[in-house]
Amino acid sequence: MKPERTVEIRIEDLHKSFDEHPVLQGIDLTVQRSDLLAIVGGSGCGKTVLLKHILRQLTPDRGRVLVADHARPDQALVDLATLTEEEMDELRLHWAVVFQRNALFSGSVFENIALWFREVKGMSDAEVRPIAIEVLESVGFTDVQRLLEKDRDELSGGMAKRVAVARALSMDPALMFYDEPTTGLDPVHAAQIHRLIHDTHHRLSRSGEPRTTVIITHDKDLLHRLEPRIVMLHEGRIFFDGSFSEFEQSDSPIIRPYFDVMPILHERHPDAASGWTIPGME
Ligand SMILES: Nc1ncnc2c1ncn2[C@@H]1O[C@H](COP(=O)(O)OP(=O)(O)O)[C@@H](O)[C@H]1O
Ligand SMILES: [Mg+2]
Repeated sequence: MKPERTVEIRIEDLHKSFDEHPVLQGIDLTVQRSDLLAIVGGSGCGKTVLLKHILRQLTPDRGRVLVADHARPDQALVDLATLTEEEMDELRLHWAVVFQRNALFSGSVFENIALWFREVKGMSDAEVRPIAIEVLESVGFTDVQRLLEKDRDELSGGMAKRVAVARALSMDPALMFYDEPTTGLDPVHAAQIHRLIHDTHHRLSRSGEPRTTVIITHDKDLLHRLEPRIVMLHEGRIFFDGSFSEFEQSDSPIIRPYFDVMPILHERHPDAASGWTIPGME
């Protein structure tokens, strides 16, 4: 088979029901390498379920999920259903995920960041520490030395989310998944996360690869700032797949009311909104 270098994820005819209740009813989606993609759609429409299939945390009732194997870039896409746990672990070396809930495991902030480096990269705590400090500062924390020793349970939901984003960034992944990365954040921190998602996406990985970013979101500001490719789920299928400007201008009776009532999670805050431009995009 010919190598498919530019495709990162291909989902074919994906179906999933829970207790006879159909959630995904035939999803076909191709994510190209270097895509910046936002998955949108009403609450409970299956966005997180779709993500969990890509991560192989759920198994399709029908259909396939194929992904690029970054360890073997010349090979064709691999079908997740055919991989062993060890092969899955190898794939996940190149991926990072910020989950919607329970983004951190119980333990200190340092433990949360260090575990992956220790287990996967065989690095010592002394080697991890400067990386941890750098990424925590990059998501806007000050007094990082103290933060590293804090337990997860001492953090607010918003702080935990920012630590989870920092941890994902520290892994320097080829593929980044964010499930509602800004939900629950105040405007200043949401704007910081928007900027980080943007900057990380456009910065090549340490091995020189372009990055691919998939964001599940309800955050209208995020869409306005990042102008991603938009995939909208509706009634178990992909209802829209196109550019942000097409989405924003659509007069579809499904998209229009959705977009118009899409909550602006963060009232525009002078510090958050002003002076923030994406180079080359505005
Ligand atoms: N493990 C599960 N068992 C049963 N139902 C589930 C499970 N995961 C998700 N669902 C249901 O699937 C639907 C889609 O959920 P989800 O993908 O989390 O929605 P959202 O688009 O808000 O992320 C919801 O009705 C949810 O209750
Ligand atoms: Mg969800």
